[in-house]
Amino acid sequence: MLFTIFGATGDLTTKKLIPALYRLYEEDQLPEPFKIMCVGRRSYETDAFVQEVRAKVDGAYPDWEAFSQNIHYYTMDFSDPEAFAGYGEEISGLNLPKHGDRIYYLATAPHYFPIIAKALIDHRLLVKGDMRSKIVFEKPFGEDLDSAKAYNRLLLESIEESQVYRIDHYLGKEMLQNILTVRFANKIFESIWDHENIESVKILALESETVKQRGGYYDRSGALKDMVQNHLFQTLALIAMDSPMGLNDTLIKNEKVKVFEHLHVADEVIFGQYEGYLNEKDIPLDSRTETFVGLKVFVNSQRWRNTPFYLVTGKKMSKKLAEIVVTFKNASCFFEKGQPEKNSLKIEIYPREGIILQFNGKAPGLQAYTMPMKLDYCHMCNVVGNSAEAYEKLILDVIHDDSSLFTRWDEIEGSWKIIDGISRLKRFEPLYIYSKEEEIMKIVEERWKIGLM
Ligand SMILES: NC(=O)c1ccc[n+]([C@@H]2O[C@H](COP(=O)([O-])OP(=O)(O)OC[C@H]3O[C@@H](n4cnc5c(N)ncnc54)[C@H](OP(=O)(O)O)[C@@H]3O)[C@@H](O)[C@H]2O)c1
Repeated sequence: MLFTIFGATGDLTTKKLIPALYRLYEEDQLPEPFKIMCVGRRSYETDAFVQEVRAKVDGAYPDWEAFSQNIHYYTMDFSDPEAFAGYGEEISGLNLPKHGDRIYYLATAPHYFPIIAKALIDHRLLVKGDMRSKIVFEKPFGEDLDSAKAYNRLLLESIEESQVYRIDHYLGKEMLQNILTVRFANKIFESIWDHENIESVKILALESETVKQRGGYYDRSGALKDMVQNHLFQTLALIAMDSPMGLNDTLIKNEKVKVFEHLHVADEVIFGQYEGYLNEKDIPLDSRTETFVGLKVFVNSQRWRNTPFYLVTGKKMSKKLAEIVVTFKNASCFFEKGQPEKNSLKIEIYPREGIILQFNGKAPGLQAYTMPMKLDYCHMCNVVGNSAEAYEKLILDVIHDDSSLFTRWDEIEGSWKIIDGISRLKRFEPLYIYSKEEEIMKIVEERWKIGLM
């Protein structure tokens, strides 16, 4: 197998891709023989590149020496289509067996997607119908609906849909995969998953990091395209979709697409930018790119009539946190001694993976006071060894030709239609500058009259 990473000097490669490939190697999951071709613009000798990557990746890597023998670095500017001839010669020189997989992983900003894909197709490195050659696109797929459509057209004119993998690593996360199981494998949830019983749903994805060295990419994207179009909308679709006729990939995706078709954005979008963003590397001094978005949406369906879904994401928050909180409506009984609190189901994605169900019971003692109680399930605690990181799972799925956890074109199309609509609104909305999380959260909480934290 040949696994090429375009954009190998970037953040994603050192943070996620190389660690995931290493762990697959350690678990004997990579087909032998294999090579990892790392392509970047900066000039490196392979040894220097490998050393630099090792210095950046966290954790123990006992088999690093043997693993890293399979890494090669190749310098090229992939905006030059002619450079791909040299890349083609380089990979031929690796003398890998002809029948092995060739996986091209585009860990680059989206505007490079069509350039790289076209060059690979033109140089017959990616060949229609040759199911051993596959291409993986990082999110976001496109920069808006028009560009996403154009990229998709280019691909499907030249290769098969089954050779294309549009990755959203959230879908590889354990607790995202768990949403459908919790919803559909439990009568207690399945029967009350609607507007009559659920008051609201909150989906939070907070990051403590700033844009760091990624300003060039981030400023063209912003939180709306970097997080909401993909991670938050995919999470929302899993929470809000109707029951499919069967739990197979096609039927599940058909239902997710319907959520995007029926999504309606309340006109109260809250945009923020962290103080100091304009001083970051590669950020124009007059940038109005948002690093925070608060979105209130409704799904216009029988199931969800008038139920608000709150989506909140931001950078430079006090901590990294991802979770979903489903809040149920008040119980109808009146209690003389202490009104019961609303039930809630919290699905924790990060830092802990778990589920907490809050319900009411009788307080211990002689008096019949009600008090909130929690059933707390820690998902990570039940895993022997390390739970599979999302990227590990998804890379393995590409190797095994399994696209069930990758986004289908119509899901991407549906989500871009909504994001384009919000982007058009953006210039009419204020951009709140925040120096810390509480400032911007307070604005959101006051506007929507909800508690977020
Ligand atoms: N970082 C994350 O945690 C993360 C998580 C999920 C998804 N993603 C997605 O992954 C993609 C990449 O993100 P990233 O954070 O890794 O970006 P990044 O740190 O900005 O890296 C981009 C890479 O592209 C290379 N590059 C840019 N222009 C090039 C050119 N003309 N020729 C050759 N190489 C070129 C850069 O090389 P030089 O630096 O050598 O110029 C660098 O290796 C984005 O689509 C992002 O949304 C990132």
